[in-house]
Amino acid sequence: MAEASQPIVSVIPDDEGKEKFKKSDHVAFYRRQMEGPNFQHRALLDTMVLTEKGARFKLLEPDTQTTLLLSVSPCKNDTVRILIDELQPIKARYRVPDVITEEPHVEQLRVERQSKDSVTLSWSSGRHQVCVWHFPFRLEILCEDKAMVTFNAKGKLWLEALQDPPGATSRGSELQEDHTSVLWKETFRQFVDIQANGPSSIGADLCLHGFSHVYGLPEHADGLQLRDTRDGEPYRLYNLDVFAYDLYSRLGLYGSVPLLVAHKPDRTLGVFWLNASETFVNVHYSPSDHQDGQTPPVKRRRVEPQTDVHWLSESGVIDCVVLLGPSPQQLFTQYAQLTGYQALPPLFALGYHQCRWNYDDEADVKAVDAGFDRHGIPYDVIWLDIEHTDGKRYFTWDSALFPEPAGLQRHLEKKKRKLVVISDPHIKVDPDWLLYCEARDGRHFVKNRQGQIYQGSCWPGESSYLDFSSSDTRAWYSRCFGLDKYKGSTPSLFVWNDMNEPSVFDGPEQTMPKDAVHYGGWEHRELHNLYGFYQHMATVEGLITRSGGLERPFVLSRSFFAGSQRLGAIWTGDNVASWEYLRISIPMLLSLSVAGIVFCGADVGGFVQDPEPELLVRWYQAGALQPFFRGHSAKETKRREPWLFGEEVTAAIRTVIQQRYCLLPYWYTVFHQAHTSGLPPLRPLWVEFPREQSTLTVDNQYMIGGALLACPVTEAGVEEVKVLMPGSGEVWYDVHSAKAYNGGRTLSLPVTLDTVPVFQRGGSVVCRSAGSGSCTAELQQLPLSITVALNSQEAADGELYLDDGHSFSYRDNKAFCLRRFTMLSGRLLCRPASEGGGGGGAFDCVTVVQSVTVLGVKSKPFTVVVHVSGAKDTCAAFEYMETCCMLTVNNLKLRVVMDWEIQIG
Ligand code: GLC
Repeated sequence: MAEASQPIVSVIPDDEGKEKFKKSDHVAFYRRQMEGPNFQHRALLDTMVLTEKGARFKLLEPDTQTTLLLSVSPCKNDTVRILIDELQPIKARYRVPDVITEEPHVEQLRVERQSKDSVTLSWSSGRHQVCVWHFPFRLEILCEDKAMVTFNAKGKLWLEALQDPPGATSRGSELQEDHTSVLWKETFRQFVDIQANGPSSIGADLCLHGFSHVYGLPEHADGLQLRDTRDGEPYRLYNLDVFAYDLYSRLGLYGSVPLLVAHKPDRTLGVFWLNASETFVNVHYSPSDHQDGQTPPVKRRRVEPQTDVHWLSESGVIDCVVLLGPSPQQLFTQYAQLTGYQALPPLFALGYHQCRWNYDDEADVKAVDAGFDRHGIPYDVIWLDIEHTDGKRYFTWDSALFPEPAGLQRHLEKKKRKLVVISDPHIKVDPDWLLYCEARDGRHFVKNRQGQIYQGSCWPGESSYLDFSSSDTRAWYSRCFGLDKYKGSTPSLFVWNDMNEPSVFDGPEQTMPKDAVHYGGWEHRELHNLYGFYQHMATVEGLITRSGGLERPFVLSRSFFAGSQRLGAIWTGDNVASWEYLRISIPMLLSLSVAGIVFCGADVGGFVQDPEPELLVRWYQAGALQPFFRGHSAKETKRREPWLFGEEVTAAIRTVIQQRYCLLPYWYTVFHQAHTSGLPPLRPLWVEFPREQSTLTVDNQYMIGGALLACPVTEAGVEEVKVLMPGSGEVWYDVHSAKAYNGGRTLSLPVTLDTVPVFQRGGSVVCRSAGSGSCTAELQQLPLSITVALNSQEAADGELYLDDGHSFSYRDNKAFCLRRFTMLSGRLLCRPASEGGGGGGAFDCVTVVQSVTVLGVKSKPFTVVVHVSGAKDTCAAFEYMETCCMLTVNNLKLRVVMDWEIQIG
């Protein structure tokens, strides 16, 4: 079968490759707005209407005579939604569907103050107010009478009213091919984009008062804190397939989340810009060192800092939600209430994944699987890339290489391991292939602007692209994962959605032309950034339906949007085996985490090129401390299974994978927390230490949950690393040596190739498995070890979440167990975490606690007494190590579902 020549090679692209992608000055709507006038919008205060959906005003722009409709909706969860549309558009403008999960309850508004210049509205919470100013129009969100956010502070409000096409005689006429207006067509390289609606861009600025640190807006290969964009490109949100992407760049990558998070010691605030078309964001910090070149540097008075954020999108409406925090935790919950909580992954998905483009055939897969057992390295999932298919026809198998796919899955399943296969959104144009015909006949493909099925080139050669924006198409695609329909699949097969930006090798910027047409007649430009999100959604639905609604799915997607956290995992695409890419993976994953995409990872080892063994080890060490943990490598790279580099490397990799498995009870618990509260498992230090200025710019270290501080080594040949121990008054314990360090300072710590600096915070309790097993299913049978790290008040607490690890029973039958461990005055209590937190009878939890280690015990106790409710107290044997103030009680058999306590006296 002829295949498309693959446009990638295993080197970083040359200059020609880079020109493939636009810079902001190539983009007409960006130029129009940046070079255009500031409009003089007026809020017509006497048009105010208060409804149960908030307040409505008309906005008038006298020069253009445009009238807009502004709705302001303060909601019960301390969010304020600002929506601006044309009052009477000639046709509906696109509003992003399916991302917001639940419309929050709008507060009942009352008029607090009113004059000819402004009207101030308040609502029941009493702390916040909204003030709308007549001229120049702006909207302030105040907290106790102080402005926190000003919408349109710089007067950048922009909304290009839809017009009839040039030369059209009546409304709604079709755009003629031969029109000449430059505004209705845009050329980039050889690609011409015909804009069916003409100019329709929108924009607005928000001033964030008092803030000088902002984060979020993934996905970019850059640091965690967003940079001032005055000296370079704006942040671009436009999902693109960028092979071996440039580092420290604000150009768009595979996915987009238009959420910006601002933080200062007493408040965390978010701005969510709900728009799925191409978007740019400019960030200006003030005061800043950035001079405009005209004014000489002047001595400034101490002024309150502020950050101005200017959002510009190609189309749609202005739909902006300000999330008021005030704590980081509240902000994450507000965002999750709006766009959804992280799906609770099946436990296996948090284990180690072994991938390669490609594992050649069934024998190869079995040999790699056996290699893990032979070398005593745990893992859960082996992956098959595009070569497993018959000519890149997804849902098929290459019959020579994979003659018995179901048998292969059963072979793995006997060891409780899974298979993941790739399923991309492009479908080979092949009238002899039933799946293609079904999709064509069912009208499931995206169309070109002439109304024919759109074709572009991807792995299979000429392909058409499923229109996942249509719920019918999603339902059809979901059914393709049915066990009866997907021949050779079994319930232990899970899925990987790749190339879903979508990637089109011969398209503009290697993606789909913006004038392609989706269901409902919407142009691709309107929903480009949603394409991958929708494929992910359809695949997830397919796996859930396949199991009769009983089993949790696992689907990895490369492209994503706000809300993708409800669906599964994402990864950071085609990185390179170099130290810089290892380093950048940390801020990239932190940016994703603050923007809700918390189940994320980077290809361990680097996808492109061959890592030297030291880099490979360091990458495994880092990856083991990140949410999604998968080794992956490109086709042209050398094989790199963990045992191919000599015993020292194998041992180092084995150690960190085993440590990852031991820590899975804790990972699972922090994922449960993400699932129920929105808090990310991976947290920038400022999330846990919001008042500490020194944490605001740290992006090489992070917290895993609230208890562990991780600082992976990402430099070659180092013998020492610097670690910021946050929090004066905090105590940190090295998880390997139990050595205690006081917080509030930066330390230089010696490292060897085996060292991975990880510290447990004083005041926390972490549950680990007493062994690693060969995969997560085995792990579930093992007992637990609990580490209690005392703080300066000699107290600590922490939670443990357990369930069956794979089904929806935790949700449908409350079959789970959520326990809290509290240590106070020498007593460790094990209790339900909350009323009803003990799990229902449906979860038969047999897990026992085998050992308890307490760190920070100042002197050797006389006795350790164990009390289990309903049984006699017993004295337990213990060990005390004076050098590191560590007490260990072994040989316990305390069921975690029981209430018990340990008294240290
Ligand atoms: C893309 C993916 C990569 C995959 C390859 C072949 O480059 O990012 O992970 O291996 O396609 O499917």
